[in-house]
Amino acid sequence: MKKQVYLDNAATTWPKPFSVGEAMAAFLRDGAANPGRGGHSLSLAAGRSVFACRQQLAALLGVKDASRLVFTANATQALNIALLGVLRPGDHCITTSMEHNAVVRPLHHLAQQGVEVTVVPGTSDGSVETALVAAAIRPNTRLIAMTHASNVCGTLLPIAEIGAVARQAKLLLLVDAAQTAGVFPIDVEQMGIDMLAVPSHKSLLGPPGLGALFVGPRVLHIAPLVYGGTGSFSAEAEMPQVFPDRLEAGTLNTVGIVGLAAGLDYLATRGMPDIYRHESGLIRQLRSGLESIAKVRLYGQSLGAPIVAFNILDMGSTEVAHILDGEFGIATRAGLHCAPLAHQTLGTSKQGVVRVSPGPFSTENDIDLLLEAVLEIARVS
Ligand code: ALA
Repeated sequence: MKKQVYLDNAATTWPKPFSVGEAMAAFLRDGAANPGRGGHSLSLAAGRSVFACRQQLAALLGVKDASRLVFTANATQALNIALLGVLRPGDHCITTSMEHNAVVRPLHHLAQQGVEVTVVPGTSDGSVETALVAAAIRPNTRLIAMTHASNVCGTLLPIAEIGAVARQAKLLLLVDAAQTAGVFPIDVEQMGIDMLAVPSHKSLLGPPGLGALFVGPRVLHIAPLVYGGTGSFSAEAEMPQVFPDRLEAGTLNTVGIVGLAAGLDYLATRGMPDIYRHESGLIRQLRSGLESIAKVRLYGQSLGAPIVAFNILDMGSTEVAHILDGEFGIATRAGLHCAPLAHQTLGTSKQGVVRVSPGPFSTENDIDLLLEAVLEIARVS
C-alpha cells in the first residue's frame, strides 16, 4: 500500500492537530457531563468549556456578543436554520450560481413554499459581480444568501462589497463560510454580514458533526428549526427568545466543541496568516506545475481559497481522481462537489473537475507527487 497523500482538505481537513484528538479523548475520559442541564460541578465544567469555545470562535469572526453564535450539527444545518428561519412566503431572496447544495436545496424547498428566488449568474472564473446582485434587489427582497468562496474552484466572492449593498438596501446578508473560516480573516461587523455559517471540520481544524451559525442583531425574527429542551425556561412550551438557547435545542456535541476549541488554539498559536502563507505557497506550486502540462486546463482564479480545480483534456474527472487514488495513493475530490450550478457556471457540468486542496500539514513533496502523477496520466492519455 502506497503512503496516502491527502489533498482533499476542502472536503475535510486531515490530519488534525494532534491536540484536537487529545482534548476530545481527555474530555470523554475526565468528565463529559451535559452542560446547562445540572447544577453539579461536572455539568458546570462542561458549560465552561462550551462557553470558552463560543468566545474563541466569536473572537475569530469579529462577533461582539458570543451568545449570538449558535452551535449546530454542521454548516449545512446552520444554513438551513438561517434560510428556513428567516424567509417566509412572498419574500424574495437573492443568491448566486456558485452555491453549494447546502444553499441551493433549502432555497429550492422554500421556492416551492412561495419564496421568490433570484440566482445571479457568476462569471466564467467563478466570481460574482456586485452590480448584478444590487440590480436584482426588489421591494420584497429580504435576504442575500451566498458563499464566501466557491467550494469547486476556490474563487472568492466580494462579500464586503455586497455587505455594504445589503446594509444600504436594509436587507440581510447570509454567508456560507465553509471554505474560508480559518483561512481568511472574517469580521462580520466590517463585512456587513448578518448571518454566517461555519463548519468545525474544515479550516477551523475541529472534528466533523459540528458547525456554528452567527445571528446578528439586525435579524429581528428567526424561527427555530428544531424544538426541544434547552436547560432554560423549562416550564414554558415556547422556545426561549434568548440566544443561543432559541436555536440550540437538545444536547450539544460537547466532545466536538472541545475538539474545535483545540483546533482554534492551534490556529491562534501557529497563526492563520502563517497557515495561509503555507497553503498559498503550495497553491502557487500546484498551479504553475499544472500550467506547464499542455493537456491540463485550470479553472477559477489564482488567489482564492486553497483549492485548485483542473481537468486533463476531456477525461472524466472521476476517472482521473480514481487513478490518482488507486495508482498513486493521492486523495482528491472529483465530480460535481454538491455544487451543480457552480459547474454550469464554469462550463464543467459534464466532466466535473478534479479538485486538489492542500491543508496546513500538506508539504511541497505532496504537491510534487501530485504533479508527477498528473504528468504521467496526461502522458498516456
Ligand atoms: N462541502 C464539502 C466539499 O466541498 C464536503 O467537498
